[in-house]
Amino acid sequence: MRNNIVHPDADKLEYEIRSIVEIAKKLEELGQKISWENIGDPVAKGEEIAPWIKEIVSRESQKDDSYAYCPTAGLLETRKYIADYKKKVENINISADDILFFNGLGDAISKIYSYLNKEAQIIGPNPAYPTHSSAEAAHSGKEHITYSLLPEKSWEPDLEEMENKIKYNPAVSGILIINPDNPTGFLYPKKTLEKIVDLAKKYNLFVISDEIYKNLCFKQEDFISVGKIASEKDVPAIILRGLSKEVPWPGSRCGWAEFVCRKKDKFFDRYVQSLIDAKMLEVCSTTLPQKVLPLIFSDHRYKELLKERSRKYQKRAELAGEILEELDDLILAPQPAAAFYLTVVFNEKYKKEKNEIKIENEKLRDFIKREIKNDFNWDKKFVYQMMASTGICLVPLSSFNSNLQGFRMTLLESDEKKFRENLEIIGEKVKEFLL
Ligand SMILES: Cc1ncc(COP(=O)(O)O)c(C=O)c1O
Repeated sequence: MRNNIVHPDADKLEYEIRSIVEIAKKLEELGQKISWENIGDPVAKGEEIAPWIKEIVSRESQKDDSYAYCPTAGLLETRKYIADYKKKVENINISADDILFFNGLGDAISKIYSYLNKEAQIIGPNPAYPTHSSAEAAHSGKEHITYSLLPEKSWEPDLEEMENKIKYNPAVSGILIINPDNPTGFLYPKKTLEKIVDLAKKYNLFVISDEIYKNLCFKQEDFISVGKIASEKDVPAIILRGLSKEVPWPGSRCGWAEFVCRKKDKFFDRYVQSLIDAKMLEVCSTTLPQKVLPLIFSDHRYKELLKERSRKYQKRAELAGEILEELDDLILAPQPAAAFYLTVVFNEKYKKEKNEIKIENEKLRDFIKREIKNDFNWDKKFVYQMMASTGICLVPLSSFNSNLQGFRMTLLESDEKKFRENLEIIGEKVKEFLL
């Protein structure tokens, strides 16, 4: 190449959740059977799509206009449907013009950060869903500024730390929350949300709330959108929603942003317009999922479907809690209140050079030894050795842009017996590794 074509921040684009798959695939080639507990795709984990949803999709796919481009912001009927729902059910006043569709939230997240002024930074949670933290770091070229989610307080955010970092980093222009959270399953209580919105107001910031798991709360009535509080307090906010997790339909690549109090700040309004303009360069997002969205969401069977799935995840979380309880002070594993993940934190006092899981098979052992270099993270070593020894594929907690060490697993396994067996193995291996 005549010139170096690599972006200076290319190394900031990391997505360990998927990188781990490369290692797992190599282990598979060497004969290890992999149990995929890493990826948050309910369909890949064997969840069946409700037949009535397939019927709706199939009916709409017979219509020629499902194959056409749609308006840049998204189909008007669908945006009107969402805006009406917000008004009637959530008491949030937004119009169809305050909604912008994307090709999945992955696309939304990428645009939200890349079109921010380079000097502006967004403070986000630690641990963090890495698509947000990497995109934020890549956009600013600086280290992502974070506030801690505290495992000893059931993952409540450290609001004192949040305020201090906002105060002493004048570049911070927005606060990101993920509610319900990935990877912790934490559900933000109303009081915490109010305090966050108050901080945003005090320092003249906007709020981003990723609510992709909104409809997968174990007690749906406990969910509160920051959008309502922000609109009451005149604080600009971006609420992110999508079809990937709740229909579930990750392959639809359909997500959207709802802009609250857009006109309350001229910079925020202009910034929102730049997101719409950026989308215009791409023409539009996927049409078919937008066509079926109102039909699925307004169907009388949808609520029950979500309830049933959330109940299943709750049962899995409770079972995991019971099995992992015997690990005592080796770990902290606060019970999630929503979504389909469980995050386990290792107690640092057990951290030693010789922490190890035995790998019987020589070929697998040699391969993992080569992969684990000297500067390897403690929890990455656990996850790699775990995978080679048992085939169970987890995600190291440190790869969620976190100083905490441990792992995240999903609660998606549909076979309860297999889920229990896997957890018992995980429990045994945590003991073997740490003790
Ligand atoms: C918190 C969060 N936001 C966004 C996404 C991306 O969703 P999409 O499939 O819409 O790109 C995920 C996917 O795991 C997620 O966990």
